[in-house]
Amino acid sequence: MAVDLLLGLQWGDEGKGKIVDVLTSNYNIIARFQGGPNAGHTLVFNGMKHVLHTIPSGIFHESAKNLVGNGVVIDPVIFKKELDKLEEQNVDYRKSLLISRKAHLILPTHRLLDAASETAKGKAKIGSTLKGIGPTYMDKTGRNGIRVGDLELKDWKDKYRALANKHEAMIAFYDVKIDYNLEELETEFFNAVETLKSLTFIDSEEYIYQAQKNGESILAEGAQGSLLDIDFGTYPFVTSSNTTAAGACTGLGIAPNKIGDVFGIFKAYTTRVGSGPFPTELFDEDGARMAKVGHEFGATTGRARRCGWLDLVALKYACQVNGVTKLMMMKADVLSGFKSLKVCTAYNYQGKEITHLPYNIEAHNVSPIYTDFKGWKEDLTAMEDISTIPNELNTYIDFLEKELDIPITLVSVGPDRKQTIFR
Ligand code: IMP
Repeated sequence: MAVDLLLGLQWGDEGKGKIVDVLTSNYNIIARFQGGPNAGHTLVFNGMKHVLHTIPSGIFHESAKNLVGNGVVIDPVIFKKELDKLEEQNVDYRKSLLISRKAHLILPTHRLLDAASETAKGKAKIGSTLKGIGPTYMDKTGRNGIRVGDLELKDWKDKYRALANKHEAMIAFYDVKIDYNLEELETEFFNAVETLKSLTFIDSEEYIYQAQKNGESILAEGAQGSLLDIDFGTYPFVTSSNTTAAGACTGLGIAPNKIGDVFGIFKAYTTRVGSGPFPTELFDEDGARMAKVGHEFGATTGRARRCGWLDLVALKYACQVNGVTKLMMMKADVLSGFKSLKVCTAYNYQGKEITHLPYNIEAHNVSPIYTDFKGWKEDLTAMEDISTIPNELNTYIDFLEKELDIPITLVSVGPDRKQTIFR
């Protein structure tokens, strides 16, 4: 059976966690394929809010298996905290949570290296979540990394020591002030590794292959967003993994011809957290209103997110790179009450009007060209049926659908599972 993908089409925080949770009852397996605890997937149901960082968003459904794929990087300390929270909520994860032996581990020194690297960059900093993501993927491609499967070997601690020593020398090389107590960090780390070891490690590519053969349905859950992709994002202000559809092939071992639907998730406006270009960013009351109504604060770092109008040029690019087959629009409710709305439909690029995403979208190269839309006053948060939504919202959706030439199959009108309208 084909594997469906669910991906963020902007700079992350599109609401992927909510939608995976909504769709999980249609799938036997939910599989994360890249990223790590830099992600914060928020789910709201039965009046409770849950934030997951590494664990797939299907974990609250008893029927689904949840796989952490080989493309993911795992911090045992954060993973343990996530498990502790699940335990508090009586979620029985032991049978349903599976970890790929080929997933790489984030060591305490990876986190320290992230901090040293960012500090050394000064004004040019990426705005990293400082979870050690970049240094861990660097060790992966540098062939130095420690993988989950290594924990089953007797000598893994020797390998750990050699790598941690190397990291300490690298931290010293950065010559910036980073305060840390490695002994304390390591005690916490080794304790968390024991918890991780009590879970089920698998050869996940074989598991996925057999599951497909047996007709099981699989949803691959992306993290971050397409514009943070290491290759196709706004480099260097990106994360360190392939967040786009191809990442699901390498991050789970899925053959490209086994991909089914590609669900592209986007917000009805745009947000970005951290540094980097953002052509439609707002610095006025409209932006402040989006931030306030949309509670635009990072689920992982608590940082305020930058807000702006929907950028259709960037969205089209993301749809192309991912081969999106169905679109899902999030946070439509946040736009209620705006007198008028803008959508960026082209860029003025060095004096010329263009409709594709160029190599460099820094403000000195690019300024947005907007199409205006009439806003709506109605509160959408209690609406359940597409026939009840305001005409102005319908016009907005129809325009996007036509421009992108992909059906918008779902409109989210609030954070709760139930605040979801299918089209
Ligand atoms: P890193 O992945 O922590 O190194 O961060 C690199 C860039 O990606 C920074 O701008 C982060 O703010 C951004 N980023 C990483 N993960 C997320 C996410 O889950 N949502 C939104 N932005 C993210």
